Amino acid sequence: MTEPRVALVTGGTGFVGANLVRKLVNDGWDVHAVVRPGSDLSMLADIEQTIQVHVHDGSTEQLIEIVKFASPQIVFHLASLFLAQHAPQDIAPLINSNLLFSTQLVEAMSVNGVRHLINTGTSWQHYENQDYSPVCLYAATKQAFEAVLTYYVDVARLAAVTLQLFDTYGPNDPRAKLFTLLRKTARSGEPLLMSPGEQLIDLVYIDDVLAAYLLAAERLLQNRVGSHEIYAVTSGQPVRLRDLVETYGRITGQTLAVEWGARPYRPREVMLPWNRGTVVPGWEPKVGLAAGIALMEQQSPRLPETIAHMAGG
Ligand SMILES: NC(=O)c1ccc[n+]([C@@H]2O[C@H](COP(=O)([O-])OP(=O)(O)OC[C@H]3O[C@@H](n4cnc5c(N)ncnc54)[C@H](OP(=O)(O)O)[C@@H]3O)[C@@H](O)[C@H]2O)c1
Repeated sequence: MTEPRVALVTGGTGFVGANLVRKLVNDGWDVHAVVRPGSDLSMLADIEQTIQVHVHDGSTEQLIEIVKFASPQIVFHLASLFLAQHAPQDIAPLINSNLLFSTQLVEAMSVNGVRHLINTGTSWQHYENQDYSPVCLYAATKQAFEAVLTYYVDVARLAAVTLQLFDTYGPNDPRAKLFTLLRKTARSGEPLLMSPGEQLIDLVYIDDVLAAYLLAAERLLQNRVGSHEIYAVTSGQPVRLRDLVETYGRITGQTLAVEWGARPYRPREVMLPWNRGTVVPGWEPKVGLAAGIALMEQQSPRLPETIAHMAGG
């Protein structure tokens, strides 16, 4: 019998991370999750007994011990603090989560001779389609870690793949993102105040996002990544926000009281998502927007039965 593959995952209590942990477990991997002392494990409740959870105390030394114990073939690094806009008091948490913790992680890998990393970046590193122009400080911290990673790739011989994600969606998403707000609006009937809604949104269904992580993992395990490869996890088919809301309302059969133009656009609003990235070789999104929305909403008991039929298409 072949030994199971071993993964160490950060950010496993978050939306994408919890789905990735569940997928890895279902695919037969031994999974170690690094969490914080106060982490809410509810997203992992159904599989908590089948994985090993390590509570990181914040020190580099203890993270070295965790990585040594887990001895993973691949580290999937998804932990991050996301803030679309920051205030002065956010600087320390942003740097701690996105730069300090990330650097501690690659140091711990390097000390233990663990060579394969999948890092998670953001399309927001590319405002107005530039090679590098951060939409916000969060995106700048993602870029800063990629710069640090270059050191570990060049000097400590790490092999890394960075997946730069766009918008992601799927069932049981606790994040305060668009679909959560639309669901709430539909239920309460309260008007949702929105920007003029002309921006394009690039949404990738969670299963497709996970497929990109798994393909990247295969590239690393087959030693096809010499240094650091960067890929976009993009639908390639961005939709106007107004059309997205219209599609959501149509598929779910709900009336949405949206007041377009009631809010201004954000500073540096992304009107056109980055479209110059390349995707992981062999990867393409399989779940279209309408099917993805239907699949997502099947989880909701208050939605019409017809949605179940649409999800297959
Ligand atoms: N729309 C998108 O989904 C999108 C777009 C672009 C990039 N990304 C990137 O994709 C990744 C996953 O995103 P997500 O939306 O699934 O994240 P999420 O739901 O916001 O979850 C964030 C995760 O990071 C963990 N974390 C934060 N700071 C940490 C620290 N200092 N030490 C250890 N863990 C820490 C959180 O743990 P706690 O439970 O302790 O809070 C949580 O598990 C992130 O790197 C994000 O930047 C996502």
